Amino acid sequence: MDINSVNVEAIVKQVLEGMLEKPAASATPAPSGVIPATSRVAMLTALEHYDIKEYPIPEVGDDDILVKVEGCGVCGTDAHEFKRDPFGLIPLVLGHEGTGEIVKMGKNVKKDSAGKDLKLGDKVVTCMIFKDNPDITMFDLNKQNVGGADVYGLLPDDDIHLNGWFADYILIRGGSTVFNVSDLDLDSRILIEPCAVLIHAVERAKTTGILRFNSRVVVQGCGPIGLICIAILRTMGIENIVAVDGEQKRLDFAKEMGATKSVNFKDHKGIEALAGAVEACFDGHLADFAFQCTGSPIAHANIYKFIRNGGGLCELGFFINGGDATINPHFDICSKEITTVGSWVYTLRDYATTFDFLKRAKGIGLPMSKLITHRFPLEQINEAHVTNLKMEGLKIAIVNQ
Ligand SMILES: NC(=O)c1ccc[n+]([C@@H]2O[C@H](COP(=O)([O-])OP(=O)(O)OC[C@H]3O[C@@H](n4cnc5c(N)ncnc54)[C@H](O)[C@@H]3O)[C@@H](O)[C@H]2O)c1
Ligand SMILES: [Zn+2]
Repeated sequence: MDINSVNVEAIVKQVLEGMLEKPAASATPAPSGVIPATSRVAMLTALEHYDIKEYPIPEVGDDDILVKVEGCGVCGTDAHEFKRDPFGLIPLVLGHEGTGEIVKMGKNVKKDSAGKDLKLGDKVVTCMIFKDNPDITMFDLNKQNVGGADVYGLLPDDDIHLNGWFADYILIRGGSTVFNVSDLDLDSRILIEPCAVLIHAVERAKTTGILRFNSRVVVQGCGPIGLICIAILRTMGIENIVAVDGEQKRLDFAKEMGATKSVNFKDHKGIEALAGAVEACFDGHLADFAFQCTGSPIAHANIYKFIRNGGGLCELGFFINGGDATINPHFDICSKEITTVGSWVYTLRDYATTFDFLKRAKGIGLPMSKLITHRFPLEQINEAHVTNLKMEGLKIAIVNQ
């Protein structure tokens, strides 16, 4: 028997096995089109502890969508919930950076939140659940960002239970935002939410009028947030980028992502020397614009020294309160006439822009998939979170088989 027929036989067997309907209580999710009676969810039941629970898949109402989850990133917010439950939500199903395939939808569901058709088999992501707040609107850049809105993966548990993306299935209820992203691969779809944070930050930066095609830009902090920032700048055609961090591995990856040069702050004693190293990377110039992508108050204080007179700064590193920073208002802002913008989460419009960015990033060969350094199955969600807390990788994801 030649090797090709062996392979074909194995593949056919595998596909046929997959097509057979599994008993309702099976822990394995059904393939597309075959919906089991129950779904597993990873329920955070205590600090630093998830239990895998199984619940009946509820009725899909006329405005609802049942999605079979393919994967979901572990976010810094999940890490906070896992460690300390600051929002007091336990027990809950976490996971808001998720994506999956529509397996059932109510008769009223025809289009996604951007007006694109929706059908069975489409791959989707959700953004926020509409509250009665007219200021959080679709496609209006000047309106309020989605901070404070409800999202799947940060909802209290209820009798539906399928409320987060760390699960086999999630029930998207009418009134939620949902986007058809079938034209993006799984890794790109898992990265949509963190990328939207940076699309928003860059949009905020552009409002200063300082960020231009040939700008010299510093990106301080090369975790996922800083690395994605570099990728977005590259897709905009900005090429003169200096990355600053203390972890050499991350700085090396920053270069793969498109940074021209990098500065390891551990190699330079004192802020004068550090600013001098940044200046040397720009051939004797300071930066026109800087993105602050760490949660460190010292890093905030340092960054002004990297920026030229009349330059700009986008501070986005403090999703949560990280404490106070000490700066010198005369030297750092006033006499240098620095324009500063803050950036927090995103608007719905940024979400849609993110889909285009991800296609462009792939198009120009940026290694976005390499941001996902670890992939765990749902049943290893506790290990996934421990790995995330150890900060061994970049983006950790739960990926369903
Ligand atoms: N604005 C928003 O809406 C938003 C959304 C998500 C995350 N964030 C924030 O962005 C920050 C970065 O997120 P992340 O996931 O990349 O975190 P991360 O912890 O993985 O990365 C931070 C990086 O900063 C580096 N760093 C620390 N101190 C530094 C210093 N003094 N100088 C230079 N580099 C330094 C670290 O070595 C690390 O690589 C977090 O603080 C997070 O709260 C903001
Ligand atoms: Zn997130």
